[in-house]
Amino acid sequence: MKNVILIAPPAAGKGTQSKLLSEKYNLIHISTGDLLRSASQKNDEMGTLIKGLIDNGSLVSDEIVIDLLKDALDGLNSGYILDGFPRTVNQAEKYLEMLSELNIPLGDVIFIDIPKDVIKKRIIGRLVCPSCGAVYNNLIEENKPSKEGICDECASALIKRQDDNEETFDKRYETYVKETYPLVDFFKSKGVLSTISGNLTKEETFDRLQQIIGNK
Ligand code: AP5
Ligand code: MG
Repeated sequence: MKNVILIAPPAAGKGTQSKLLSEKYNLIHISTGDLLRSASQKNDEMGTLIKGLIDNGSLVSDEIVIDLLKDALDGLNSGYILDGFPRTVNQAEKYLEMLSELNIPLGDVIFIDIPKDVIKKRIIGRLVCPSCGAVYNNLIEENKPSKEGICDECASALIKRQDDNEETFDKRYETYVKETYPLVDFFKSKGVLSTISGNLTKEETFDRLQQIIGNK
């Protein structure tokens, strides 16, 4: 069973690359951001709490996220890509405990390194498909949908995420530096981290990822 963890700042291309990797290696794409956005649409106390945290660029509590992840992994018997998890050292520790209890290998842990100014530009033009999750960018030629505002894959109308504005981006980036970047040292010290540059085209980044994942 092949599992992959992508660690990266916001808008580094986790979702874009997860989609390509899931197709190439037949892996299930698990995005905790997508799971949380879906939970945030419920008209209940939990939904409102999650929505507030996402819109403000803060992290949702480890307990909520780990519960959602456990549900997503329950009964899964194929490899998967974790996009956006773990995001804190505590989440990583809990996840490693879970794997060891279930006797599941960790797989590839890959850090996508990319400068802040590059991702800020990507945030501004991003459009996502609310139906199939495909990701586009109306400011980057290679990532534009063929028909303006319409998903190439399922023809749904594309939307802009509410947290895709400059102010929330700055907060998301700050949260990343404080809470998530320490995972780089955490996994490095365990000797399991590979690093690639995310400041490349979509295809070049995909090639680098395949060099790591395809070799094992
Ligand atoms: P999440 O949904 O995970 O957001 P994020 O980490 O901020 O990452 P993004 O989805 O914004 O970016 P991405 O890396 O997927 O990039 P994409 O491929 O779209 O999390 C959202 C929120 O949920 C968090 O803020 C937090 O509140 C909560 N949350 C989630 N997980 C949590 C956890 N584990 N614990 C606690 N809270 C959690 O690409 C971005 C744009 O760039 C697109 O327009 C794309 O077309 C373009 N692009 C991609 N690659 C390239 C390229 N190579 N060249 C040019 N353009 C490119
Ligand atoms: Mg994403």
